[in-house]
Amino acid sequence: MAVNPFTSLLFASLLLLGPVAGTGACRKSAASVTKSQWSSLNSTVDGRLVSVVPSALWCQQRGGCTDAEWSSARFRLSNIPGAMDSYNYEQAYDGVGLVCLRNNTANCAKANVPLYSVEAQTVADVQAAVKFAAAHDIRLVVKSSGHDFLGRSTAADSLMIRMKNFKTVTFVNNFKGASTSMGSAVTVGPGLGTGDLYQLAKAAGKVLVIGSAATVAAAGGYVQGAGHSILSRKFGLAADNAIQFQVVVASGQLLTVNSQSNSDLFWAIRGGGAGSWGVIVSATFRTYGTFNSTIFVQTYATTSHQVAADLMQLHASHIFDYEATRTCQYFFLQKANVTAIPILTLYTIAINQTTPQTTALLAPFQGKALAISGVTLTSNVQLTSDTNDLVFFADDISGIDLITGSRLIPKETYQNRVSKIGPAYKTLLDVGTLNILGHLVAGGQVAANSGISSAVHPGWRTALVHLLMENPWTDGATITEQNHVATLWNDKQLAAIQKMTGDDSPGAAYSNEAAQVEKHPEETFFGPNYAKLKSIKTKYDPKGLFIVRNGVGSDDWNAQGTCRLH
Ligand SMILES: Cc1cc2nc3c(=O)[nH]c(=O)nc-3n(C[C@H](O)[C@H](O)[C@H](O)COP(=O)(O)OP(=O)(O)OC[C@H]3O[C@@H](n4cnc5c(N)ncnc54)[C@H](O)[C@@H]3O)c2cc1C
Ligand SMILES: *[C@@H]1O[C@H](CO)[C@@H](O)[C@H](O)[C@H]1NC(C)=O
Ligand SMILES: *[C@@H]1O[C@H](CO)[C@@H](O)[C@H](O)[C@H]1NC(C)=O
Ligand SMILES: *[C@@H]1O[C@H](CO)[C@@H](O)[C@H](O)[C@H]1NC(C)=O
Ligand SMILES: *[C@@H]1O[C@H](CO)[C@@H](O)[C@H](O)[C@H]1NC(C)=O
Ligand SMILES: *[C@@H]1O[C@H](CO)[C@@H](O)[C@H](O)[C@H]1NC(C)=O
Repeated sequence: MAVNPFTSLLFASLLLLGPVAGTGACRKSAASVTKSQWSSLNSTVDGRLVSVVPSALWCQQRGGCTDAEWSSARFRLSNIPGAMDSYNYEQAYDGVGLVCLRNNTANCAKANVPLYSVEAQTVADVQAAVKFAAAHDIRLVVKSSGHDFLGRSTAADSLMIRMKNFKTVTFVNNFKGASTSMGSAVTVGPGLGTGDLYQLAKAAGKVLVIGSAATVAAAGGYVQGAGHSILSRKFGLAADNAIQFQVVVASGQLLTVNSQSNSDLFWAIRGGGAGSWGVIVSATFRTYGTFNSTIFVQTYATTSHQVAADLMQLHASHIFDYEATRTCQYFFLQKANVTAIPILTLYTIAINQTTPQTTALLAPFQGKALAISGVTLTSNVQLTSDTNDLVFFADDISGIDLITGSRLIPKETYQNRVSKIGPAYKTLLDVGTLNILGHLVAGGQVAANSGISSAVHPGWRTALVHLLMENPWTDGATITEQNHVATLWNDKQLAAIQKMTGDDSPGAAYSNEAAQVEKHPEETFFGPNYAKLKSIKTKYDPKGLFIVRNGVGSDDWNAQGTCRLH
């Protein structure tokens, strides 16, 4: 029988950490809570307690899901409490490849999904669920969109609080939070996805720093991780623009969290990592008057890994062309499959610039790119509109098997080590990387905000680029193919990136788009802030109710977050 590769990773972490069952330090199983106790919680939350099954089983019980439904984040979010975007996180990899698939639901009972979910509508629902999990000493998880790339919004044998119904949004001209005059701001619930928020902002004549997706929860995991945006080089990170949170903490209390009130938690929640602090029921972000920007989406075809690497080196040598205008650019080098030829897609979002200005901005790179033998420009779509129109995703891709790995690439690499960048791309392609996603979202105001006191990893302030590997596989992939994907980040990709930056220390990574198998998560995700974060965590969550994989305090728990190690 085939051995699933993720098992070796899981086993490795279990061996490293050592199981402690029997020491009395484990939580109780949610399944051991009695029917009448659940039923009493259900009454408290007005019947909004639902059973959770993995999405494959949900579809089967319904009589099937179409491919369009299966792969739609919006469909899964509105209908399937147990759904994760990266479907692999719903799996309990068990050593023999017995996973829960769309066309084979035999093993779905063991899946890595909660037992029950409180489909919260009110703050009181959230408080009831938090108190219930604490009183019964069971594993608790919080989910808004289920986008998480580290699988932090699902856990087996747990109670979930799902926040998708918290869709309130209020724009005000003068927010009164810590002071009486905090200026133009918007307060949003974590159920509101970025796609809807952009359109509401447009209607209000505002812009704000949020992500590039239809359904990512601005007030959920996104802002707690730091939150990058097409506007971050202009206005800073989402965490830099967050001015207040309403949070239900482990005691069940609803706290107002801002620079005056619970200011230590305010420091921690802005960058200290998703899911570790409490349940955010709303977040308030600064807003700015809206303006037009221009997006160019250009596709460059190549003919080989070497040509693609030469193109990326040229790209790196022009990356400072976009500095003065604080232009954002996503530069995605992708292959449809291992044998396909790489294609570069450049999404250039020129903030407050016109089409002719954007053409001029890109001309130096474009001229030299087309002079490389084998490089052709195959499409060039241009749009100038209200900035809120430029993130136009109607939906997000979901229901896929995907793991990620990333690093924040220092500005210094692009200043002094450009000759190392082409070879790094060549290696990344040669080892089988399909998606090398460059995000020019740092520098500019992200760097200028280095004086803000928050838990944002200081690596963000000296970075220029967030470089993300997306490593997918399909349900039909062979064990050899899966093994390749599971080991790519730690065995091959990270080394290629470290050779490029010339830094073999763990470096800094954006915790929201990173590797679950990261070897030094405390240092890589939180850097010098870890010790302070941990003491704040202990103050607000002394018993570790909010434990997520690779989050603050998770080093005290086993990989499942069910047993305390120390
Ligand atoms: C298509 C796509 C596009 C993306 N684009 C961007 C981008 O442009 N910029 C960017 O910075 N990131 C982006 N991301 C990454 C995104 O920031 C992370 O996936 C983030 O974890 C999403 O948060 P969420 O709450 O929507 O997801 P969830 O999976 O619901 O939650 C993620 C984490 O946050 C916790 N959490 C969720 N809600 C709450 C809450 N209300 N209170 C407390 N904890 C909560 C969960 O427990 C979990 O740990 C993108 C992801 C996807 C899939
Ligand atoms: C909770 O109560 C509602 C309404 O009475 C009911 O429909 C639902 O099945 C109950 N949930 C569980 C998990 O029993
Ligand atoms: C790989 O991708 C290319 C380009 O999209 C396609 O033509 C080819 O058929 C694919 N090969 C396989 C094995 O899927
Ligand atoms: C946009 O550009 C105009 C004209 O150059 C300038 O007056 C305005 O302040 C800019 N707006 C922003 C938000 O930068
Ligand atoms: C913004 O772009 C829209 C759409 O292209 C255009 O109609 C409008 O005049 C522009 N507004 C400004 C202030 O340039
Ligand atoms: C399972 O079903 C999907 C969708 O119908 C199909 O693409 C896939 O090949 C099947 N997988 C296996 C292992 O049969």
